[in-house]
Amino acid sequence: MIYINLPKIGEEEVQAVVKVLRSGMLTSGLGAGPAVTEFEKGFAKMAGAKHAVAVNTGTAALHAALMAVGVKQGDEVILPSFTFVATAEAVALTGAKPVFADIDPKTYNLSPQTVEKALTKKTKAILPVDLYGYSADMKPLREIADKHGLALVEDAAQAHGLTYEGKPAGAFADAACWSMYASKNIMTGEGGVVTTNSDQIDETLRMIRTHGEKAKYSSLILGTNYRMSEMQAAIGNVQLTRLDGFVAKRRQNAQTLTKLLEKNNKLTLPYESKDRLHSWYLYTARLKDGAEEERNTLMAELKNKGIGAEAYYVNPVHQMPFYRENFGSAKLPQTDNAAKQVFSLPIHPGVTEEQARFIGETVLSLL
Ligand SMILES: Cc1ncc(COP(=O)(O)O)c(C=O)c1O
Repeated sequence: MIYINLPKIGEEEVQAVVKVLRSGMLTSGLGAGPAVTEFEKGFAKMAGAKHAVAVNTGTAALHAALMAVGVKQGDEVILPSFTFVATAEAVALTGAKPVFADIDPKTYNLSPQTVEKALTKKTKAILPVDLYGYSADMKPLREIADKHGLALVEDAAQAHGLTYEGKPAGAFADAACWSMYASKNIMTGEGGVVTTNSDQIDETLRMIRTHGEKAKYSSLILGTNYRMSEMQAAIGNVQLTRLDGFVAKRRQNAQTLTKLLEKNNKLTLPYESKDRLHSWYLYTARLKDGAEEERNTLMAELKNKGIGAEAYYVNPVHQMPFYRENFGSAKLPQTDNAAKQVFSLPIHPGVTEEQARFIGETVLSLL
C-alpha cells in the first residue's frame, strides 16, 4: 500500500534519540531541556518568528495559544468547519463558543467575507487553518482582526514549508500553532509548537505549558502539562534539517500528478498562486460535479489497487454530533459541497516518481 503519509526516519533520528536516552535527561520540569531548547531555536528560525514554544501536541499548541491571547468562557472564536476537529476542540476547551464560517471553494480556506458576517460583540479571536498546507488568506484576516480588536491565531498544523508573500506561516498572526504529529511534513511522533513575535504571549505560553509556573510550586496563572519530551525534540532537531528536501520532493510528486491529471476535465486540482506556495502536506483534488458516492467509489477502487487515497473532513465539524448539539447548526454550503467531493492522494517524500505516475495514471483510468 502506498500510504497517504508516512514519516521519514533515518539513522540520524535514531541516534539522536539514543543519545538522549543515554544522557538520562528525558525531560525538564520547566519544559526546556537542552534538546527542546535547541528545537525551539531551530523552529523559530524556520518559521521566521521571534519565539517558538514546544508543546506535546498540535492540539495543545492551539489550546495554549487561545488561552495565551485571552480567549475564555463567554467569548466567540470564528473558525472554519472544514478542518480537523482539533481546531474547534481547542476553542471549546477554553470555554468559548466555536462559530463556524464558510470557506473559499478554490483554496478550501476560511473566507474573509464570511468571517465578517459572523462577527458579534462576543467575538474575541479569528482562527484560520492553512488547510492541506496552503496558507489561509492572512492579510485580509489581519485587517479584520485589527479593525475589530481581535486576536488572530493561525492553525498551522499542516503548514511546515508553505510561504505567504515569501514568508512562512504565522507571519501575520499573533500566534501560529504547528503540529509535529507523525504524518506531518516534519514530525516528532507526537508534538506541537506555538510561534509568536510577542514577548508577552511567549511568556504566558511558557507558563501555561508547565502548570502556570515560572518557578516550582508557585502557579501564577492556570496552566497544565503540555511539555515536549527531550526524545521528541531530538527527533525534531534532525527533521528540521530535512524540511526543505522533504517539501521539494512533495512538490515534485505534486507536479507529476498535476501534469497527468490536468488532462481530465472532471477534476479540479489543487490551487497554488505565485505569492502563496504550498507546503504540499496533502494533494487534494475534487470531483467537480461528482456526488459523494462517486468520490467514495473512486477511493475504494484506488485502495484496491494499493493507493492509500483518503477523503479528509468528510464530516465537517459543524455536522458532528457534539458540536451541533452544543453550538447549534450552521449554514455552510461551500464546506458541505467540498466535504462530498474532495479526495487526497499520496505525495509524501517516500513516494517515488514511478509511484507518483502510477497513482496519476490509475486515477485517470478509473475516471
Ligand atoms: C488542521 C489541524 N489542526 C490541528 C491538528 C492537531 O494536531 P495534533 O494531532 O498534533 O494534536 C491537526 C493534526 O493532526 C490538524 O491537521
